[in-house]
Amino acid sequence: MRNLAILGSTGSIGRSALAVVDAHPTRLSVVGLAAGRRAEDLAAQIVRYRPSIAALTSDDDLPALREAASKAATITTSGPDGLIAVATHPDVDIVLCASSGTAALEAVLAAIAAGKRIALANKEVLVMAGALVTKAARARGVPLLPVDSEHNAIHQCLHGRPPDQVTRLILTASGGPFRTWPAAKLEHATPEDALRHPTWQMGRKITIDSATLMNKGLEVIEAHWLFDVPADRIEVLIHPQSIVHSMVELKDGSTIAQLGVTDMRLPIQYAFSYPDRWDAAIPTLDLTRSAALEFASPDLDRFPCLRLAYQALNVGGTMMVALNAANEVAVDAFLAGRLPFPAISRVIDGTMAAHDVQDPATVEIVRAADQWAREHARTLAGELELKV
Ligand SMILES: NC(=O)c1ccc[n+]([C@@H]2O[C@H](COP(=O)([O-])OP(=O)(O)OC[C@H]3O[C@@H](n4cnc5c(N)ncnc54)[C@H](OP(=O)(O)O)[C@@H]3O)[C@@H](O)[C@H]2O)c1
Repeated sequence: MRNLAILGSTGSIGRSALAVVDAHPTRLSVVGLAAGRRAEDLAAQIVRYRPSIAALTSDDDLPALREAASKAATITTSGPDGLIAVATHPDVDIVLCASSGTAALEAVLAAIAAGKRIALANKEVLVMAGALVTKAARARGVPLLPVDSEHNAIHQCLHGRPPDQVTRLILTASGGPFRTWPAAKLEHATPEDALRHPTWQMGRKITIDSATLMNKGLEVIEAHWLFDVPADRIEVLIHPQSIVHSMVELKDGSTIAQLGVTDMRLPIQYAFSYPDRWDAAIPTLDLTRSAALEFASPDLDRFPCLRLAYQALNVGGTMMVALNAANEVAVDAFLAGRLPFPAISRVIDGTMAAHDVQDPATVEIVRAADQWAREHARTLAGELELKV
């Protein structure tokens, strides 16, 4: 039996993770759940899965949660300390980090220090503090198992091969809903247009990131930290069918790919079962019924966010913190209808240009850079908003 803590249990990945628990009830049990604001959804999960501990973001939501979940006799808590308490509960073996944004950074570091296996769906934490997180995991001997489908695919393709055999990591990208849109039309793209992802059902923020290709940019940075490969050996290929989840090129010219259906239950189960493989709880891939597989290079002029992410990785240090924070601010403003789609990259570009890069040696330095970048990006977003 493997005991889970799920940070972000009410979200898209969190709910898929609970579906994996449902499919393997003799192998997985839920010890901890943490969510943001959806108290009712969390209460329903508490009643069903009976975790020992649960947390929400705000104290204000705790009375409603306690009332709704009273019969489940769960300890409930809130805020950053609540996330840490869930992630470090003594009975937890595996922490799935599936909360959105950067709130879970301290909880992930605390879980690593407590020796928990980390299944990482969240990419913002690694983009913001990849050096700190990977160093801590190495020092404690804790595995970081990628749940993001591309990195999960690469983990499967690498399969313990020595780094000197690997020449390139190739991350695939669906291209998002605007893959074929001309630049002029992108000026008028609405949040509704951007939220219509062609192949994946995901949370709102990551869906907008997929439309700008920032999602792939964050994934390039994530791949760098997870697999210790430099930016110039991580490539992105547009693959609209989302069947090949990513590839690894080896020095003898072989390319190893991982293929599968577009369902996050597959990489989540892999991270829970690793190094074992359990029976599939979802329909498997039928290539005779799939469309022809296409591949193309990304267009960095129409999708400058991907270029900005490579730039941030090459500069290093807190530039990646600035990129991530500015992106979160700009995506929020776009979703709220305050910023036009192409202004997302302008806010990020402007924030990066003004950023004074530091060595992200501590969580405090990382958090300070994050706060500075958010404030700067808010100012830029306000200026660009007036010009709409
Ligand atoms: N969805 C995918 O297919 C996918 C694939 C690869 C990677 N990812 C990554 O996985 C992460 C989650 O994505 P998602 O699509 O599942 O997002 P989502 O549907 O928006 O869910 C986000 C979850 O995080 C919780 N949350 C937000 N702020 C929190 C806080 N301060 N403390 C604790 N919990 C908090 C939310 O709680 P409430 O809803 O209760 O507020 C919700 O449970 C993101 O980093 C994303 O990039 C997602």
